[in-house]
Amino acid sequence: MRLYINIDHVATVRQARLANEPDPVRAAVVAELGGADGITVHLREDRRHIQDRDVRLLLETARTGVNLELAATSEILDLACELRPMQATLVPEKREEVTTEGGLSLADPAQVEVVRAALARLSAAGIRTALFIDPNEAAIRTSRELGVDAVELHTGEYANATGAARAEQLTRIAGAAALARSLGLAVHAGHGLTYENVAPVAAIQEIEELNIGHSVVSRAVFTGLEVAVRDMADIIRRARLV
Ligand code: PXP
Repeated sequence: MRLYINIDHVATVRQARLANEPDPVRAAVVAELGGADGITVHLREDRRHIQDRDVRLLLETARTGVNLELAATSEILDLACELRPMQATLVPEKREEVTTEGGLSLADPAQVEVVRAALARLSAAGIRTALFIDPNEAAIRTSRELGVDAVELHTGEYANATGAARAEQLTRIAGAAALARSLGLAVHAGHGLTYENVAPVAAIQEIEELNIGHSVVSRAVFTGLEVAVRDMADIIRRARLV
């Protein structure tokens, strides 16, 4: 299993003062020292945290793979195709949201065509592609039909649920992961994962990549980022062994 660390919220702290620190590119270097298998950034249309310059510098600096999260808009797609990160994950984006609220709306035929065109552009640029989707059968089958390399299953509902509802969400994610894998899709997962809730998701064998940001950056305020990444990597490694 690969652990990709999302460093957006290092940039959030910087942008709170429109200053030049903390630098997310330096954070990427430290995350790699802590054992991150890759670095994820979301270049949002409103540039609320990560800036174009960050992505450019990150791609020159990172020793691991860079996963760029992006909405399927022409401006950001142009940039992605120019910068050519190792992987691009298409996500839905609403200006008013605090964070990504769910997977792509693949039930909407117009949206499917937007995603299809975006995937064609990214693939032509040699970029591995992923779609951020809710863990349901229809979205997985549509992803398969679209010819994407991977799906990232949205774990936000699992993270927000408690008790029996959380167990149900976990079963849903496990079922979705098995279906996606059986259709030949690589399976990633992420959103809302924390030190407390990550282990059952990491134990799902079909999932090969996790994307985790907020919880790790939050802990890093107290422990430093290298330790925070290592602690998360340890939990995932142990979960994987059982
Ligand atoms: N995966 C996707 C597609 C996301 O948009 C985000 C948040 O940017 C994450 C994973 C990471 O979520 P979190 O910050 O809650 O760990």
